[in-house]
Amino acid sequence: MNVLIVGGGAREHAICDAVVRSKNATIYSVMSNLNPGIKRLAKEYLLEKETNIDSIVDYAKNKHINLALIGPEAPLEKGLTDALTKQGIKVCAPTQNAARIETDKEYMRNLVQKYKISGQLRYETFTDTKKAKTFIEELQGNVAIKPIGLTGGKGVRVAGDHFTTTAQAISYVDEVINQKIGGTAKVIIEEKAEGEEFTIQGFSDGFRILPLPAVQDHKRLLPDDQGPNTGGMGSYSCKNKLLPFLPKKDYDQSVRIIQKIIQALQTEKCPYIGPIYGQFMLTKDGPKIIEFNARFGDPEAMNVLPLLKNDFIELCTLMIDGKLSEKKLEIEEKSTVCKYVVPEGYGIKSMTGEKIHVDEQAIKKTTSLLFYASVNKKDEDIVTLSSRSLAVVGISDELTDAEKICEQGLSQIKSDHIFIRHDIGTKTLIEKRIRHMNIIRGKL
Ligand code: AMP
Ligand code: GLY
Repeated sequence: MNVLIVGGGAREHAICDAVVRSKNATIYSVMSNLNPGIKRLAKEYLLEKETNIDSIVDYAKNKHINLALIGPEAPLEKGLTDALTKQGIKVCAPTQNAARIETDKEYMRNLVQKYKISGQLRYETFTDTKKAKTFIEELQGNVAIKPIGLTGGKGVRVAGDHFTTTAQAISYVDEVINQKIGGTAKVIIEEKAEGEEFTIQGFSDGFRILPLPAVQDHKRLLPDDQGPNTGGMGSYSCKNKLLPFLPKKDYDQSVRIIQKIIQALQTEKCPYIGPIYGQFMLTKDGPKIIEFNARFGDPEAMNVLPLLKNDFIELCTLMIDGKLSEKKLEIEEKSTVCKYVVPEGYGIKSMTGEKIHVDEQAIKKTTSLLFYASVNKKDEDIVTLSSRSLAVVGISDELTDAEKICEQGLSQIKSDHIFIRHDIGTKTLIEKRIRHMNIIRGKL
């Protein structure tokens, strides 16, 4: 079977890795950078912008692709799924319309409200700064301000984290509206949810989901959750599928919320096929919806895909055929810690073109996994681009051991110009998360 994988990041490297574990798959890749990991696993690749729909469709037709998987959100927004499907190619990813749960934050909140799905937050959209000010004041400044469309995870500003005064909030509202950040002259303002964040990913066949273990990502650039938001600096998951601060009842409740979204989309005649991602805040009143993504998370894909024991291609086929209920997910019961290596200056102004030396053999000996991301290969070294460079994942029974293995792997990566959030998955940070959740619940 010829499988096309669109995207050149670490998430797509992890997807390729899951695909090659299926016996009969031959990988073709479309990526905008030459990811050395994907290059090695693919039979052929096309270096192309992942949003260049016509060129990707031509390539897929020429290579007689049987199944296409799409990693990033931008090609989903551009309708790559629809375009490939029109050519008779099976695609395990949502259509442009279904992907609106990620690409149109107003659509997502309206859908959740219409179907009375739990986990809602107060929200309103504005094209007028003055009206926005009244809403911000009504919520006493405790708001999250978001562009409506895609911003690569970097457009959201939250009270207390990114601004402290109403004047600063208004100034950002003005910026979003006037500069059309996220594609439209509109802003969505939400009530700020307080608590601990977590991700649940799953597989959807349009009717039901099979949920994966919960993961906690770290969006802030600097240790101790300081600095600007990034695409995600690293993540961890636990062998019991829960997180140290996340009880089973809240995990189950969050899975039910994603399930309800899938049902709502089916009722709207907009069935959702493919991987789905729910981001939640565990608050004193249970899980609240922060966002949905129409794809695997990055880095969260690297926590769950290596643990998948099912044949991944078979799962994709079942999703497309609406037959997921025939299957039970088999996940290795292990804990994982993933840390990204990013270029120095990432999140502000990345140092590009810097060499990174990666000793792959030494990394392998530590048992950690290596997933390349936004890099190019130059002789024996790889060079940085502006986004995240590569990810290392430690896997073990206990979280503390997984973290140690991840660090052992990272120690085999040498460069003068990289940055890593070493605190991710450490005992100190996990205990802080538990303490924070206890305070939120009023237990401390
Ligand atoms: P998003 O791109 O929507 O995931 O937002 C980026 C980050 O902003 C999230 O991971 C949260 O940490 C934070 N955030 C977004 N919306 C809210 C909200 N309503 N309340 C609190 N934090 C939020
Ligand atoms: N880790 C956040 C995302 O994939 O959007």
